[in-house]
Amino acid sequence: MTQRPERLTLDDLPGLVALEREGQSHPWSEALLHEAFVDERAQVWGLKMTDGLKGFAVFYRLPFDAELQAITVAPRMRRQGFATTLLETGIAQANAWGSERLLLEVRASNQAAIDMYRRAGFLRDGVRRGYYDSKEGREDAWLMSLRLAAGKA
Ligand SMILES: CC(C)(COP(=O)(O)OP(=O)(O)OC[C@H]1O[C@@H](n2cnc3c(N)ncnc32)[C@H](O)[C@@H]1OP(=O)(O)O)[C@@H](O)C(=O)NCCC(=O)NCCS
Repeated sequence: MTQRPERLTLDDLPGLVALEREGQSHPWSEALLHEAFVDERAQVWGLKMTDGLKGFAVFYRLPFDAELQAITVAPRMRRQGFATTLLETGIAQANAWGSERLLLEVRASNQAAIDMYRRAGFLRDGVRRGYYDSKEGREDAWLMSLRLAAGKA
């Protein structure tokens, strides 16, 4: 893909809300998405085409690590490397922060995301039992991380 991720601003919130509702089975609320623009530890990156926002990711700076909090790609734009490009941007940002690891949590049933993270080099660190609500009751979270340059020193 040729698009480069850009840093999103509050002006992008309506597009973000629409994409999250379209692309996520458990979408973030508008209030949570809004918070990501207000919290100075957070960065929201997106991929835009002429007809709108096609993918976004939210990264947080933690005291020693960074965290991928959300990543969504429009259903019709998947399997074209959009999420991987957004991840690469977050990894570069986390390295610039001096973070030791990039952390994330993912539903154990979300095979597409798990495959993507594994392909990007993330390893599973553990499982948080019954962490998420799901239609079938509770669902486990996989805790995954990618060791960054500062974490290898
Ligand atoms: C998970 C998600 C972000 C992936 O976005 P994407 O832009 O399609 O991902 P990429 O094109 O960068 O995929 C990279 C690799 O991940 C793996 N992958 C991605 N989607 C996959 C799928 N549906 N099935 C199997 N492997 C998949 C593949 O190895 C893929 O490489 P390939 O296409 O060359 O085989 C997207 O499916 C999505 O938005 N899902 C809903 C939101 C979500 O679950 N977010 C994650 C929350 S933790």
